[in-house]
Amino acid sequence: MFKAAISSLIIISTSISFLFVSLPQKSYYHSLYISNSLSDNESISNHLYILTRRPHIAGSEANAEAAAYVLSTLTSFNIPSHIASYHTALTYPESRSLLLIRPPPDPPINFSLQQETYEGDPYADVASQVQPTFHGYAKSGTAVGPVVYVNYGRVEDYLTLKEMGVNVSGNVALARYGKIYRGDIVENAYAEGATGVLIFTDRKDYGGGGGDAKWFPDEKWMPPSGVQVGSVYNGAGDPTTPGWPSTEDCERLSDEQVVDMGDVPLIPSLPISWADGDAIIRSIDGKVAGDDWQGGKGAPVYRVGPGPGIVNLTYKGKQVISRIENVIGIIEGAEEPDRFVILGNHRDAWTFGAADPNSGTACLLEVAERLYKLQKKGWKPRRTIILCNWDAEEYGLIGSTEWVEENRQMLASRVVAYLNVDVAVAGAGFEAAATPQLDELLVQAAKQVLDPDNSSQSIYDSWIRSTNNPLKIERLGGGGSDYAAFVQHIGVPAADIAFGGGYPVYHSMYDDFIWMSKFGDPMFQRHVAVASLWGLVALKLADDEVLPFNYLTYALELQKSAEDLKGEVLNGGVTLVPLLKSINDLEKAAIKINDERKALMESKGWTSMWKDDRKVRELNDRLMMAERAFTDREGLPGRPWYKHLIYAPSKHNDYGSKSFPGVDDAIEKAKGLNTTDSWHSVQHEIWRVSRVITQASLCLKGELT
Ligand SMILES: *[C@@H]1O[C@H](CO)[C@@H](O)[C@H](O)[C@H]1NC(C)=O
Ligand SMILES: *[C@@H]1O[C@H](CO)[C@@H](O)[C@H](O)[C@H]1NC(C)=O
Ligand SMILES: *[C@@H]1O[C@H](CO)[C@@H](O)[C@H](O)[C@H]1NC(C)=O
Ligand SMILES: *[C@@H]1O[C@H](CO)[C@@H](O)[C@H](O)[C@H]1NC(C)=O
Ligand SMILES: *[C@@H]1O[C@H](CO)[C@@H](O)[C@H](O)[C@H]1NC(C)=O
Repeated sequence: MFKAAISSLIIISTSISFLFVSLPQKSYYHSLYISNSLSDNESISNHLYILTRRPHIAGSEANAEAAAYVLSTLTSFNIPSHIASYHTALTYPESRSLLLIRPPPDPPINFSLQQETYEGDPYADVASQVQPTFHGYAKSGTAVGPVVYVNYGRVEDYLTLKEMGVNVSGNVALARYGKIYRGDIVENAYAEGATGVLIFTDRKDYGGGGGDAKWFPDEKWMPPSGVQVGSVYNGAGDPTTPGWPSTEDCERLSDEQVVDMGDVPLIPSLPISWADGDAIIRSIDGKVAGDDWQGGKGAPVYRVGPGPGIVNLTYKGKQVISRIENVIGIIEGAEEPDRFVILGNHRDAWTFGAADPNSGTACLLEVAERLYKLQKKGWKPRRTIILCNWDAEEYGLIGSTEWVEENRQMLASRVVAYLNVDVAVAGAGFEAAATPQLDELLVQAAKQVLDPDNSSQSIYDSWIRSTNNPLKIERLGGGGSDYAAFVQHIGVPAADIAFGGGYPVYHSMYDDFIWMSKFGDPMFQRHVAVASLWGLVALKLADDEVLPFNYLTYALELQKSAEDLKGEVLNGGVTLVPLLKSINDLEKAAIKINDERKALMESKGWTSMWKDDRKVRELNDRLMMAERAFTDREGLPGRPWYKHLIYAPSKHNDYGSKSFPGVDDAIEKAKGLNTTDSWHSVQHEIWRVSRVITQASLCLKGELT
């Protein structure tokens, strides 16, 4: 209704030329933003090409060069930009070796641990700049022992091994990638008494299923020598500065204190290729593993061991206090400069980073260029838009976390929303995750942008088809990318979008421009679509007079999560009543503020010039701060950095994003112990969640008790 009233206003006003409405409405600029006339796949492709010419791990000179490119590009678009640098503890490999001793007559294998270039590889001459394969923050040391195959290294996989009578203790675990975060693979193996961990890329999961499947550069699949490197750190931010920014000469924890924090691994680990994994599997005897533990087509029979194959895994890393650089560009808001809409993407990459993360960086620069073009046509954002290009995300979300920690108070009082893009494109198919009050906005925006793979429909059409209706929007409880500090530490509404999700050459040397232009996005139209959607969501958040948040969705989402808890707490004598009541109150508060918004908008129209700006601002502040109310000063039990009691990684699992992580962890514990005290802790966590939800309701209602 509001929009219709405004657009007729434009027609009238242009004909009679009222001074106060002579500029086009914001919605005109928003349509222009996503039009073909402003978008450019050639320049996106060019940005990506330049950003990925060399491997650029965090702390390297090549990554500083990439930062300079981002800075100068933003500056060329008239966006005032600067570098926010930190001095953070990063680790690099010094030496590694892996020896497999096989039962005679097979000779030992001394693995080369090298990713190979291919005939005609344009990056062959810079391949030596790729760091040797390793795990960030891996423990230095040697592990020698018989190998046990542990499938994906999940808690349930160890239960299966116990049922088979296999004792992992004292052995070296061989796990495959693909179901849980690699840091959890190492932690779970440690908990079972393994002395070291090897993690391989199985052809079944990353090689097109095995058999006759070809690999890069012929197909998109991981080559035999390809290795998924990555961090095995379980925290967020520089491990030596928990909760405070890593400025030069700041206070730092000692190595012993870092170990006491419990987020760095305590046994050595190495990532290995599918070829090496295959050779080790062939040296393992013992019971045959179950069907869902087996490999792909043409793979040997997987057995669990232990041994007789014995490995000697040696890793030595060095920790270096390295300068990292976030690039920050600021487009100041014309009417509410002290309200921030933040777009973020990281720049550092384990290798060349064509998909992860520079497809996102190329899109960020495209967004910047389109906003520059809009400004030239007369548009100014109502609120401030901040473009962030983070560093050291791969090591543990470090650049974004240090910046959020340093600017905590400013951000907590001013940020409207944070919009993350990490891997912008790795293939076809749109995916989104968000805090629930943003769901509706994402849907609206997805309806306005064309599907890059079928221009007779919108992104929304293909999205809903791919998730088989209803739409699937993931939540942000995982630690997968730079939204974590915004959502989980300070309680900012956030979203994360991508095309294509996972991809086989993830974190390997083959994530380069050639892979992207052959397989990830041959026309760079998916990149264009991400830039369109990302920027459009940002424009709505920056320009809409009343923030486009719907907390009713949040209440419904929490209801679903509470339902899921019901079965879990049945036996413990725990009541969910306080939680259910707080969620009901949230629903009422959401309905109330939605009605207020409607009334406020309807009271406008011709009188919009004379509306009460303070009233709009007050309503917006309630919408903005309600997410903050889900945070708690103490944070989660034993994990004080995680302040958000609805969304945080759960302790024992994956990238997965669970609601009520504190309750979840307490239940996990209580199920094991089954004591009165342990079930009391579950009840306590339920009370705590109920209290923050009640805070959010009070905030939305804008009333004092
Ligand atoms: C394994 O190979 C490396 C490099 O080729 C070599 O330095 C090392 O001595 C070898 N180790 C053994 C036990 O043969
Ligand atoms: C597993 O092995 C370790 C030592 O290698 C031993 O201490 C432990 O008791 C064993 N556990 C079981 C269940 O056999
Ligand atoms: C394991 O390998 C390391 C490095 O090659 C070597 O120093 C060590 O002696 C080996 N240990 C055993 C028990 O073979
Ligand atoms: C493209 O979209 C249209 C409209 O939704 C649909 O009918 C058609 O099947 C789609 N084409 C392909 C190749 O998916
Ligand atoms: C950009 O898109 C056009 C039209 O889809 C296509 O012909 C061109 O090759 C694309 N450019 C790049 C760099 O992919």
